[in-house]
Amino acid sequence: MLSLCCIMALLALSCPETSGNTAGVKVKLTQKGLEYGRQIGVTTLLDQFKTIKVPDFSGSEEVSPIGKVSYSLTGSEQIKVINVGLPQSEVALVPGTGVSLTISNAYINLHGDWRVKYLMIISDSGSFDLAVSELSISTTVTIQSDDTGRPVVSSANCAASVGQTSITFHGGASWLYNLFSSYIDDALRSVLQRKICPLVSEAIDKMNPYLKTLNVLAKVDQYAEIDYSMVESPVISTSSIDLSLKGEFYNIGEHKEPPFAPTPFSLPPDESNMLYMGISAFTANSAGFVYNNAGALSLRITDDMIPSSSPFRLNTKTFGTFIPQIAKQYPDLMMELLVKAATAPTVMFTPNNITLQANATVTAYAIQPNTTLTPLFILNVDASVSCQIYVTGVKVAGNLTLNAVNMTLGTSYVGPFEVKSLDSIFQMVLKAAVIPEVNALLQQGFPLPAIGEMNLVNTQLVIMKDYLLIGTDVQFTA
Ligand SMILES: *[C@@H]1O[C@H](CO)[C@@H](O)[C@H](O)[C@H]1NC(C)=O
Ligand SMILES: *[C@@H]1O[C@H](CO)[C@@H](O)[C@H](O)[C@H]1NC(C)=O
Ligand SMILES: *[C@@H]1O[C@H](CO)[C@@H](O)[C@H](O)[C@H]1NC(C)=O
Ligand SMILES: *[C@@H]1O[C@H](CO)[C@@H](O)[C@H](O)[C@H]1NC(C)=O
Ligand SMILES: *[C@@H]1O[C@H](CO)[C@@H](O)[C@H](O)[C@H]1NC(C)=O
Repeated sequence: MLSLCCIMALLALSCPETSGNTAGVKVKLTQKGLEYGRQIGVTTLLDQFKTIKVPDFSGSEEVSPIGKVSYSLTGSEQIKVINVGLPQSEVALVPGTGVSLTISNAYINLHGDWRVKYLMIISDSGSFDLAVSELSISTTVTIQSDDTGRPVVSSANCAASVGQTSITFHGGASWLYNLFSSYIDDALRSVLQRKICPLVSEAIDKMNPYLKTLNVLAKVDQYAEIDYSMVESPVISTSSIDLSLKGEFYNIGEHKEPPFAPTPFSLPPDESNMLYMGISAFTANSAGFVYNNAGALSLRITDDMIPSSSPFRLNTKTFGTFIPQIAKQYPDLMMELLVKAATAPTVMFTPNNITLQANATVTAYAIQPNTTLTPLFILNVDASVSCQIYVTGVKVAGNLTLNAVNMTLGTSYVGPFEVKSLDSIFQMVLKAAVIPEVNALLQQGFPLPAIGEMNLVNTQLVIMKDYLLIGTDVQFTA
Protein backbone atom coordinates (compact mmCIF):
# COMPACT_ATOMS: atom_id res chain seq x y z
CA MET A 1 0.00 0.00 0.00
CA LEU A 2 2.80 2.36 0.99
CA SER A 3 4.83 1.59 -2.10
CA LEU A 4 1.76 2.12 -4.29
CA CYS A 5 1.40 5.57 -2.75
CA CYS A 6 5.06 6.30 -3.48
CA ILE A 7 4.63 5.31 -7.10
CA MET A 8 1.50 7.45 -7.37
CA ALA A 9 3.35 10.38 -5.82
CA LEU A 10 6.23 9.96 -8.26
CA LEU A 11 3.83 9.76 -11.19
CA ALA A 12 2.13 12.92 -9.99
CA LEU A 13 5.49 14.69 -9.91
CA SER A 14 6.60 13.59 -13.32
CA CYS A 15 3.30 14.05 -15.18
CA PRO A 16 2.42 17.71 -15.68
CA GLU A 17 -1.26 16.85 -16.30
CA THR A 18 -1.72 15.38 -12.86
CA SER A 19 -0.02 18.16 -10.88
CA GLY A 20 -2.87 20.44 -11.89
CA ASN A 21 -2.77 22.85 -9.00
CA THR A 22 0.75 24.26 -9.13
CA ALA A 23 0.53 28.01 -9.46
CA GLY A 24 1.87 29.86 -12.50
CA VAL A 25 1.18 33.20 -10.83
CA LYS A 26 1.38 34.07 -7.14
CA VAL A 27 -0.08 37.12 -5.48
CA LYS A 28 0.78 38.33 -2.00
CA LEU A 29 -1.15 40.96 -0.07
CA THR A 30 1.01 42.50 2.65
CA GLN A 31 0.13 44.27 5.91
CA LYS A 32 0.37 47.53 3.94
CA GLY A 33 -2.21 46.20 1.48
CA LEU A 34 -4.38 45.08 4.35
CA GLU A 35 -4.20 48.56 5.84
CA TYR A 36 -5.46 50.01 2.55
CA GLY A 37 -8.22 47.39 2.64
CA ARG A 38 -9.12 48.53 6.16
CA GLN A 39 -9.59 52.12 4.94
CA ILE A 40 -11.91 50.96 2.17
CA GLY A 41 -13.72 48.65 4.59
CA VAL A 42 -14.29 51.41 7.16
CA THR A 43 -15.72 53.72 4.48
CA THR A 44 -18.13 50.97 3.43
CA LEU A 45 -19.07 50.32 7.04
CA LEU A 46 -19.73 54.02 7.66
CA ASP A 47 -22.09 54.09 4.68
CA GLN A 48 -23.76 50.97 5.99
CA PHE A 49 -24.25 52.47 9.46
CA LYS A 50 -25.88 55.56 7.95
CA THR A 51 -28.64 53.23 6.79
CA ILE A 52 -29.42 51.96 10.30
CA LYS A 53 -33.17 51.85 10.71
CA VAL A 54 -34.38 52.05 14.28
CA PRO A 55 -38.02 51.08 14.20
CA ASP A 56 -40.53 53.31 15.88
CA PHE A 57 -41.22 51.93 19.25
CA SER A 58 -43.81 52.33 21.89
CA GLY A 59 -44.78 50.97 25.27
CA SER A 60 -46.65 51.82 28.40
CA GLU A 61 -45.68 52.10 32.02
CA GLU A 62 -47.69 52.34 35.23
CA VAL A 63 -46.70 55.67 36.73
CA SER A 64 -48.13 56.59 40.11
CA PRO A 65 -50.02 58.65 40.85
CA ILE A 66 -51.25 59.45 37.34
CA GLY A 67 -51.74 55.87 36.22
CA LYS A 68 -50.89 54.32 32.89
CA VAL A 69 -48.68 56.38 30.57
CA SER A 70 -48.23 55.21 27.01
CA TYR A 71 -45.39 56.58 24.98
CA SER A 72 -43.99 56.26 21.51
CA LEU A 73 -40.77 57.27 19.80
CA THR A 74 -41.07 57.99 16.08
CA GLY A 75 -39.48 60.02 13.36
CA SER A 76 -41.45 61.84 10.71
CA GLU A 77 -40.54 58.79 8.62
CA GLN A 78 -38.24 56.92 10.95
CA ILE A 79 -35.73 57.62 13.63
CA LYS A 80 -32.82 59.14 11.70
CA VAL A 81 -29.08 58.65 11.92
CA ILE A 82 -27.55 62.12 12.14
CA ASN A 83 -23.91 61.23 12.55
CA VAL A 84 -21.69 58.12 12.68
CA GLY A 85 -18.01 57.90 13.45
CA LEU A 86 -15.58 55.01 13.37
CA PRO A 87 -12.48 56.78 14.67
CA GLN A 88 -10.55 53.69 15.71
CA SER A 89 -10.25 50.47 13.78
CA GLU A 90 -7.64 47.80 13.42
CA VAL A 91 -7.15 44.85 11.15
CA ALA A 92 -4.89 41.90 11.80
CA LEU A 93 -4.23 38.64 10.04
CA VAL A 94 -5.65 35.50 11.60
CA PRO A 95 -3.44 32.69 10.28
CA GLY A 96 -5.45 29.99 8.56
CA THR A 97 -8.70 31.93 8.69
CA GLY A 98 -8.72 35.50 7.46
CA VAL A 99 -8.60 38.95 8.93
CA SER A 100 -9.84 40.26 12.25
CA LEU A 101 -11.48 43.67 12.34
CA THR A 102 -11.77 45.53 15.63
CA ILE A 103 -13.58 48.83 15.92
CA SER A 104 -13.58 50.82 19.12
CA ASN A 105 -14.94 54.14 20.36
CA ALA A 106 -17.43 54.31 17.53
CA TYR A 107 -20.44 56.58 17.95
CA ILE A 108 -23.87 57.05 16.42
CA ASN A 109 -26.22 59.99 16.92
CA LEU A 110 -29.92 59.58 16.25
CA HIS A 111 -32.78 62.04 16.16
CA GLY A 112 -36.54 61.42 16.39
CA ASP A 113 -39.81 62.52 17.97
CA TRP A 114 -41.49 61.43 21.16
CA ARG A 115 -45.12 61.44 22.21
CA VAL A 116 -46.86 60.39 25.43
CA LYS A 117 -50.44 59.92 26.40
CA TYR A 118 -51.84 59.74 29.91
CA LEU A 119 -55.08 60.07 31.78
CA MET A 120 -56.62 58.90 28.52
CA ILE A 121 -56.82 62.35 26.95
CA ILE A 122 -53.77 64.38 27.86
CA SER A 123 -50.88 64.09 25.46
CA ASP A 124 -47.52 65.70 25.20
CA SER A 125 -44.78 65.54 22.58
CA GLY A 126 -41.36 66.80 21.50
CA SER A 127 -38.16 65.56 19.90
CA PHE A 128 -35.19 63.61 21.20
CA ASP A 129 -31.51 63.09 20.46
CA LEU A 130 -29.86 59.81 21.22
CA ALA A 131 -26.07 59.63 21.46
CA VAL A 132 -24.56 56.17 21.40
CA SER A 133 -20.87 56.11 22.18
CA GLU A 134 -18.03 53.77 23.13
CA LEU A 135 -19.44 51.34 20.66
CA SER A 136 -17.11 48.43 19.99
CA ILE A 137 -17.34 45.79 17.32
CA SER A 138 -15.13 42.85 16.59
CA THR A 139 -15.46 40.38 13.78
CA THR A 140 -13.44 37.98 11.68
CA VAL A 141 -13.50 38.23 7.92
CA THR A 142 -12.95 34.75 6.51
CA ILE A 143 -11.42 34.49 3.03
CA GLN A 144 -12.02 31.47 0.84
CA SER A 145 -12.11 30.44 -2.79
CA ASP A 146 -15.49 30.14 -4.51
CA ASP A 147 -16.31 27.57 -7.19
CA THR A 148 -15.16 29.94 -9.98
CA GLY A 149 -11.72 30.33 -8.38
CA ARG A 150 -12.40 33.82 -7.07
CA PRO A 151 -11.94 34.95 -3.46
CA VAL A 152 -15.06 35.26 -1.34
CA VAL A 153 -15.30 36.88 2.10
CA SER A 154 -17.78 36.50 4.92
CA SER A 155 -18.18 37.70 8.47
CA ALA A 156 -17.82 35.31 11.39
CA ASN A 157 -17.79 35.66 15.19
CA CYS A 158 -19.19 39.16 15.23
CA ALA A 159 -19.69 40.78 18.61
CA ALA A 160 -20.93 44.28 19.29
CA SER A 161 -21.37 46.20 22.49
CA VAL A 162 -22.75 49.64 23.15
CA GLY A 163 -20.83 51.41 25.93
CA GLN A 164 -22.84 54.54 26.61
CA THR A 165 -26.17 55.88 25.50
CA SER A 166 -27.56 59.19 26.46
CA ILE A 167 -30.94 60.48 25.46
CA THR A 168 -31.95 64.13 25.53
CA PHE A 169 -35.60 65.12 25.16
CA HIS A 170 -36.69 68.46 23.86
CA GLY A 171 -40.12 70.08 24.38
CA GLY A 172 -42.96 68.88 26.58
CA ALA A 173 -42.95 68.40 30.30
CA SER A 174 -39.60 67.23 31.59
CA TRP A 175 -41.02 65.58 34.72
CA LEU A 176 -42.95 63.30 32.44
CA TYR A 177 -40.25 61.92 30.22
CA ASN A 178 -37.75 61.71 33.07
CA LEU A 179 -40.05 59.06 34.52
CA PHE A 180 -39.28 56.61 31.79
CA SER A 181 -36.11 57.88 30.08
CA SER A 182 -34.00 55.12 31.62
CA TYR A 183 -36.39 52.51 30.29
CA ILE A 184 -36.20 53.99 26.79
CA ASP A 185 -32.45 54.20 27.05
CA ASP A 186 -32.18 50.47 27.77
CA ALA A 187 -34.60 49.52 25.03
CA LEU A 188 -32.76 51.60 22.40
CA ARG A 189 -29.42 50.20 23.49
CA SER A 190 -30.58 46.64 22.98
CA VAL A 191 -32.16 47.44 19.60
CA LEU A 192 -28.90 48.95 18.40
CA GLN A 193 -26.80 46.16 19.78
CA ARG A 194 -28.89 43.66 17.82
CA LYS A 195 -28.67 45.72 14.61
CA ILE A 196 -24.91 46.18 14.41
CA CYS A 197 -23.61 42.71 13.59
CA PRO A 198 -26.06 42.14 10.70
CA LEU A 199 -24.95 45.51 9.28
CA VAL A 200 -21.29 44.54 9.60
CA SER A 201 -22.05 41.26 7.87
CA GLU A 202 -23.87 43.12 5.05
CA ALA A 203 -20.96 45.54 4.64
CA ILE A 204 -18.52 42.63 4.35
CA ASP A 205 -20.80 40.84 1.85
CA LYS A 206 -20.78 44.03 -0.22
CA MET A 207 -17.09 43.36 -0.96
CA ASN A 208 -17.95 40.14 -2.81
CA PRO A 209 -19.31 41.78 -5.98
CA TYR A 210 -15.90 43.52 -6.27
CA LEU A 211 -14.00 40.30 -5.66
CA LYS A 212 -16.19 38.66 -8.32
CA THR A 213 -14.66 41.07 -10.86
CA LEU A 214 -11.34 39.22 -10.59
CA ASN A 215 -10.50 38.52 -14.21
CA VAL A 216 -10.30 34.74 -13.84
CA LEU A 217 -10.33 34.52 -17.63
CA ALA A 218 -8.52 37.59 -18.92
CA LYS A 219 -8.89 38.04 -22.68
CA VAL A 220 -5.66 39.07 -24.38
CA ASP A 221 -6.57 39.20 -28.08
CA GLN A 222 -8.39 37.09 -30.67
CA TYR A 223 -6.12 34.12 -29.94
CA ALA A 224 -5.49 33.96 -26.24
CA GLU A 225 -6.88 34.34 -22.76
CA ILE A 226 -5.16 33.95 -19.39
CA ASP A 227 -6.62 31.80 -16.64
CA TYR A 228 -6.13 33.63 -13.34
CA SER A 229 -8.43 31.46 -11.22
CA MET A 230 -7.19 30.46 -7.78
CA VAL A 231 -5.92 26.90 -7.66
CA GLU A 232 -6.34 26.65 -3.90
CA SER A 233 -7.87 28.64 -1.05
CA PRO A 234 -5.87 31.69 0.03
CA VAL A 235 -3.13 30.98 2.55
CA ILE A 236 -3.21 33.39 5.47
CA SER A 237 -0.06 33.69 7.55
CA THR A 238 0.95 36.16 10.24
CA SER A 239 2.43 38.54 7.67
CA SER A 240 0.47 38.16 4.41
CA ILE A 241 -2.37 36.70 2.42
CA ASP A 242 -1.01 34.54 -0.39
CA LEU A 243 -2.99 33.57 -3.45
CA SER A 244 -1.97 30.87 -5.91
CA LEU A 245 -3.38 31.50 -9.37
CA LYS A 246 -3.25 29.21 -12.35
CA GLY A 247 -1.52 31.83 -14.52
CA GLU A 248 -1.82 29.98 -17.77
CA PHE A 249 -2.44 31.17 -21.32
CA TYR A 250 -5.03 29.23 -23.29
CA ASN A 251 -6.30 29.41 -26.82
CA ILE A 252 -9.72 31.05 -26.58
CA GLY A 253 -12.34 28.39 -26.05
CA GLU A 254 -9.84 25.56 -26.28
CA HIS A 255 -8.05 24.66 -23.08
CA LYS A 256 -5.28 22.32 -24.11
CA GLU A 257 -2.43 21.71 -21.66
CA PRO A 258 1.16 22.31 -22.78
CA PRO A 259 3.77 19.54 -22.43
CA PHE A 260 5.39 21.35 -19.49
CA ALA A 261 4.25 22.36 -16.00
CA PRO A 262 4.97 25.20 -13.59
CA THR A 263 8.06 24.95 -11.44
CA PRO A 264 7.09 25.70 -7.84
CA PHE A 265 8.41 29.08 -6.69
CA SER A 266 7.84 31.35 -3.73
CA LEU A 267 7.79 35.11 -3.44
CA PRO A 268 10.49 36.86 -1.40
CA PRO A 269 9.51 38.24 2.05
CA ASP A 270 9.36 41.87 0.78
CA GLU A 271 6.60 43.95 2.27
CA SER A 272 7.23 47.58 1.39
CA ASN A 273 4.49 47.48 -1.27
CA MET A 274 0.83 46.53 -0.78
CA LEU A 275 0.89 43.80 -3.35
CA TYR A 276 3.44 41.49 -4.93
CA MET A 277 2.85 39.38 -8.01
CA GLY A 278 5.13 36.65 -9.25
CA ILE A 279 4.71 35.64 -12.87
CA SER A 280 6.51 32.45 -13.69
CA ALA A 281 8.41 31.46 -16.81
CA PHE A 282 5.68 28.82 -17.13
CA THR A 283 3.11 31.57 -17.73
CA ALA A 284 5.30 33.16 -20.40
CA ASN A 285 6.01 29.81 -22.02
CA SER A 286 2.32 28.88 -22.03
CA ALA A 287 1.86 32.03 -24.14
CA GLY A 288 4.43 30.76 -26.65
CA PHE A 289 2.67 27.40 -26.76
CA VAL A 290 -0.74 29.01 -27.33
CA TYR A 291 0.30 31.48 -30.03
CA ASN A 292 2.25 28.78 -31.82
CA ASN A 293 -0.79 26.45 -31.69
CA ALA A 294 -2.99 29.22 -33.05
CA GLY A 295 -0.63 29.60 -36.02
CA ALA A 296 -0.16 33.20 -34.98
CA LEU A 297 3.64 33.09 -35.02
CA SER A 298 4.20 33.79 -38.67
CA LEU A 299 4.95 36.96 -40.52
CA ARG A 300 5.18 37.91 -44.21
CA ILE A 301 7.97 40.34 -44.90
CA THR A 302 7.64 42.47 -48.02
CA ASP A 303 9.92 45.16 -49.36
CA ASP A 304 7.71 48.00 -48.09
CA MET A 305 8.51 46.84 -44.51
CA ILE A 306 12.25 47.42 -45.11
CA PRO A 307 13.28 50.99 -44.20
CA SER A 308 13.78 53.13 -47.31
CA SER A 309 17.22 54.10 -45.96
CA SER A 310 18.38 50.49 -46.28
CA PRO A 311 20.83 49.69 -49.10
CA PHE A 312 19.28 46.19 -49.30
CA ARG A 313 15.99 45.77 -51.10
CA LEU A 314 13.92 42.64 -50.95
CA ASN A 315 14.50 41.65 -54.56
CA THR A 316 16.38 39.09 -56.64
CA LYS A 317 19.02 41.74 -57.49
CA THR A 318 20.10 42.10 -53.83
CA PHE A 319 20.00 38.35 -53.18
CA GLY A 320 21.70 37.74 -56.52
CA THR A 321 24.84 39.45 -55.24
CA PHE A 322 25.13 36.63 -52.64
CA ILE A 323 23.51 33.81 -54.60
CA PRO A 324 24.19 34.45 -58.31
CA GLN A 325 21.76 31.68 -59.44
CA ILE A 326 18.86 33.74 -58.12
CA ALA A 327 19.66 36.79 -60.25
CA LYS A 328 20.19 34.53 -63.25
CA GLN A 329 17.01 32.39 -62.88
CA TYR A 330 14.67 35.12 -61.59
CA PRO A 331 15.92 38.45 -62.91
CA ASP A 332 14.33 41.68 -61.71
CA LEU A 333 11.71 40.22 -59.42
CA MET A 334 10.64 41.45 -56.02
CA MET A 335 10.87 38.95 -53.16
CA GLU A 336 8.88 38.05 -50.09
CA LEU A 337 9.99 36.25 -46.92
CA LEU A 338 7.74 34.09 -44.77
CA VAL A 339 9.03 33.85 -41.19
CA LYS A 340 7.31 31.10 -39.26
CA ALA A 341 7.98 29.67 -35.80
CA ALA A 342 9.24 26.09 -36.03
CA THR A 343 8.64 25.42 -32.35
CA ALA A 344 7.03 27.48 -29.59
CA PRO A 345 9.54 30.06 -28.35
CA THR A 346 10.90 29.46 -24.85
CA VAL A 347 11.58 32.13 -22.27
CA MET A 348 14.23 32.03 -19.58
CA PHE A 349 14.15 34.27 -16.51
CA THR A 350 17.53 34.66 -14.81
CA PRO A 351 18.27 37.46 -12.33
CA ASN A 352 17.91 40.77 -14.21
CA ASN A 353 17.76 39.02 -17.56
CA ILE A 354 15.07 37.62 -19.81
CA THR A 355 16.11 35.73 -22.90
CA LEU A 356 13.86 34.21 -25.45
CA GLN A 357 14.97 31.40 -27.70
CA ALA A 358 13.03 31.29 -30.94
CA ASN A 359 13.43 28.74 -33.70
CA ALA A 360 11.93 29.67 -36.99
CA THR A 361 12.02 28.85 -40.65
CA VAL A 362 12.38 31.60 -43.23
CA THR A 363 11.12 30.78 -46.70
CA ALA A 364 12.29 33.15 -49.43
CA TYR A 365 10.05 33.56 -52.48
CA ALA A 366 10.40 35.37 -55.78
CA ILE A 367 7.19 37.21 -56.68
CA GLN A 368 6.35 36.39 -60.30
CA PRO A 369 4.76 39.10 -62.49
CA ASN A 370 1.44 37.17 -62.19
CA THR A 371 1.91 37.33 -58.32
CA THR A 372 2.66 33.61 -57.99
CA LEU A 373 5.24 32.99 -55.25
CA THR A 374 8.10 30.75 -56.31
CA PRO A 375 10.09 29.34 -53.39
CA LEU A 376 13.86 29.89 -53.61
CA PHE A 377 15.15 28.44 -50.34
CA ILE A 378 14.21 27.68 -46.72
CA LEU A 379 16.50 28.59 -43.82
CA ASN A 380 16.33 27.36 -40.25
CA VAL A 381 16.90 30.31 -37.97
CA ASP A 382 17.66 30.01 -34.27
CA ALA A 383 17.50 33.41 -32.64
CA SER A 384 18.35 34.47 -29.13
CA VAL A 385 16.47 37.60 -28.14
CA SER A 386 16.66 39.80 -25.03
CA CYS A 387 13.46 41.07 -23.58
CA GLN A 388 12.82 44.22 -21.54
CA ILE A 389 9.63 43.98 -19.53
CA TYR A 390 7.62 46.82 -18.04
CA VAL A 391 4.26 47.42 -16.41
CA THR A 392 1.83 49.74 -18.17
CA GLY A 393 -1.63 50.26 -16.70
CA VAL A 394 -2.65 46.89 -15.28
CA LYS A 395 -0.70 45.12 -17.98
CA VAL A 396 2.78 43.80 -18.45
CA ALA A 397 4.39 44.61 -21.77
CA GLY A 398 7.70 43.83 -23.41
CA ASN A 399 10.26 44.98 -25.93
CA LEU A 400 12.67 42.68 -27.73
CA THR A 401 16.18 43.20 -28.99
CA LEU A 402 18.03 40.69 -31.09
CA ASN A 403 21.11 39.10 -29.50
CA ALA A 404 22.31 36.44 -31.88
CA VAL A 405 21.13 34.46 -34.88
CA ASN A 406 22.27 31.10 -36.20
CA MET A 407 21.15 30.15 -39.65
CA THR A 408 21.41 26.84 -41.42
CA LEU A 409 20.10 25.84 -44.81
CA GLY A 410 16.89 23.82 -44.71
CA THR A 411 16.11 23.39 -48.41
CA SER A 412 17.43 25.13 -51.52
CA TYR A 413 15.49 25.26 -54.81
CA VAL A 414 18.31 27.16 -56.51
CA GLY A 415 21.27 24.86 -55.87
CA PRO A 416 23.90 25.03 -53.15
CA PHE A 417 25.06 28.33 -51.62
CA GLU A 418 26.94 29.66 -48.60
CA VAL A 419 24.34 30.54 -45.90
CA LYS A 420 26.91 32.63 -44.02
CA SER A 421 26.91 35.14 -46.88
CA LEU A 422 23.29 36.02 -46.00
CA ASP A 423 24.07 36.85 -42.34
CA SER A 424 24.13 40.62 -42.70
CA ILE A 425 21.00 40.87 -44.83
CA PHE A 426 19.04 38.62 -42.45
CA GLN A 427 20.27 40.48 -39.37
CA MET A 428 18.95 43.63 -41.04
CA VAL A 429 15.61 42.03 -41.96
CA LEU A 430 15.13 40.70 -38.43
CA LYS A 431 16.10 44.00 -36.78
CA ALA A 432 14.25 46.29 -39.16
CA ALA A 433 11.12 44.29 -39.97
CA VAL A 434 10.52 41.28 -37.73
CA ILE A 435 11.44 42.62 -34.28
CA PRO A 436 9.45 45.88 -34.69
CA GLU A 437 6.35 43.87 -35.74
CA VAL A 438 6.67 41.60 -32.71
CA ASN A 439 7.33 44.60 -30.46
CA ALA A 440 4.21 46.37 -31.69
CA LEU A 441 2.25 43.36 -30.39
CA LEU A 442 4.21 42.97 -27.16
CA GLN A 443 3.73 46.66 -26.40
CA GLN A 444 -0.03 46.17 -26.28
CA GLY A 445 0.64 44.17 -23.12
CA PHE A 446 -0.91 41.24 -21.32
CA PRO A 447 -3.49 41.79 -18.59
CA LEU A 448 -2.40 41.16 -15.00
CA PRO A 449 -4.81 39.75 -12.43
CA ALA A 450 -7.00 42.66 -11.33
CA ILE A 451 -10.14 43.49 -9.41
CA GLY A 452 -12.56 46.27 -10.37
CA GLU A 453 -11.11 49.64 -11.30
CA MET A 454 -7.69 48.88 -9.90
CA ASN A 455 -4.75 51.16 -10.69
CA LEU A 456 -1.14 50.33 -9.95
CA VAL A 457 1.14 52.96 -8.41
CA ASN A 458 4.76 52.88 -7.13
CA THR A 459 5.29 49.83 -9.28
CA GLN A 460 8.61 48.03 -9.49
CA LEU A 461 9.55 45.08 -11.59
CA VAL A 462 12.45 42.75 -10.93
CA ILE A 463 13.47 39.68 -12.86
CA MET A 464 14.22 36.81 -10.51
CA LYS A 465 15.30 33.28 -11.23
CA ASP A 466 12.35 31.61 -13.03
CA TYR A 467 9.86 34.41 -12.37
CA LEU A 468 9.09 38.05 -12.73
CA LEU A 469 8.41 39.95 -9.51
CA ILE A 470 6.10 42.96 -9.58
CA GLY A 471 5.83 44.97 -6.36
CA THR A 472 3.13 47.62 -6.40
CA ASP A 473 0.67 49.71 -4.46
CA VAL A 474 -2.91 49.82 -5.65
CA GLN A 475 -5.62 52.45 -5.83
CA PHE A 476 -9.26 51.82 -6.54
CA THR A 477 -11.12 54.51 -8.42
CA ALA A 478 -14.51 52.87 -8.05
C1 LIG B 1 16.07 25.56 -31.24
O1 LIG B 1 17.03 24.84 -31.94
C2 LIG B 1 18.16 24.51 -31.18
C3 LIG B 1 19.15 23.85 -32.08
O2 LIG B 1 18.83 24.05 -33.39
C4 LIG B 1 17.78 23.59 -30.07
O3 LIG B 1 18.89 23.31 -29.27
C5 LIG B 1 16.73 24.29 -29.21
O4 LIG B 1 16.24 23.43 -28.23
C6 LIG B 1 15.58 24.75 -30.05
N1 LIG B 1 14.75 25.60 -29.24
C7 LIG B 1 13.45 25.45 -29.20
C8 LIG B 1 12.70 26.45 -28.41
O5 LIG B 1 12.87 24.55 -29.81
C1 LIG C 1 21.21 37.13 -20.39
O1 LIG C 1 21.27 35.72 -20.40
C2 LIG C 1 21.68 35.17 -21.62
C3 LIG C 1 21.56 33.65 -21.54
O2 LIG C 1 21.69 33.20 -20.25
C4 LIG C 1 23.11 35.62 -21.94
O3 LIG C 1 23.50 35.12 -23.18
C5 LIG C 1 23.11 37.16 -21.98
O4 LIG C 1 24.41 37.63 -22.16
C6 LIG C 1 22.56 37.74 -20.68
N1 LIG C 1 22.44 39.18 -20.82
C7 LIG C 1 22.78 40.01 -19.86
C8 LIG C 1 22.56 41.46 -20.17
O5 LIG C 1 23.25 39.64 -18.81
C1 LIG D 1 2.71 32.48 -63.10
O1 LIG D 1 3.95 32.63 -63.78
C2 LIG D 1 4.87 31.57 -63.53
C3 LIG D 1 6.19 31.91 -64.17
O2 LIG D 1 6.02 32.54 -65.39
C4 LIG D 1 4.27 30.27 -64.03
O3 LIG D 1 5.15 29.19 -63.80
C5 LIG D 1 2.95 30.00 -63.35
O4 LIG D 1 2.33 28.85 -63.87
C6 LIG D 1 2.02 31.18 -63.49
N1 LIG D 1 0.88 30.97 -62.69
C7 LIG D 1 -0.36 31.29 -63.02
C8 LIG D 1 -1.45 30.98 -62.03
O5 LIG D 1 -0.59 31.81 -64.08
C1 LIG E 1 24.62 29.31 -32.50
O1 LIG E 1 25.47 28.21 -32.69
C2 LIG E 1 26.57 28.21 -31.82
C3 LIG E 1 27.48 27.07 -32.22
O2 LIG E 1 26.79 26.08 -32.90
C4 LIG E 1 26.07 28.07 -30.40
O3 LIG E 1 27.16 28.11 -29.51
C5 LIG E 1 25.16 29.21 -30.08
O4 LIG E 1 24.58 29.05 -28.79
C6 LIG E 1 24.05 29.28 -31.10
N1 LIG E 1 23.26 30.48 -30.86
C7 LIG E 1 21.94 30.49 -30.94
C8 LIG E 1 21.31 31.81 -30.77
O5 LIG E 1 21.26 29.50 -31.18
C1 LIG F 1 12.68 48.86 -27.47
O1 LIG F 1 14.06 48.61 -27.63
C2 LIG F 1 14.67 49.40 -28.64
C3 LIG F 1 16.14 49.04 -28.71
O2 LIG F 1 16.32 47.72 -28.62
C4 LIG F 1 14.52 50.86 -28.31
O3 LIG F 1 15.04 51.63 -29.36
C5 LIG F 1 13.06 51.20 -28.11
O4 LIG F 1 12.95 52.54 -27.69
C6 LIG F 1 12.44 50.29 -27.07
N1 LIG F 1 11.03 50.58 -26.97
C7 LIG F 1 10.39 50.65 -25.82
C8 LIG F 1 8.92 50.94 -25.91
O5 LIG F 1 10.94 50.49 -24.74
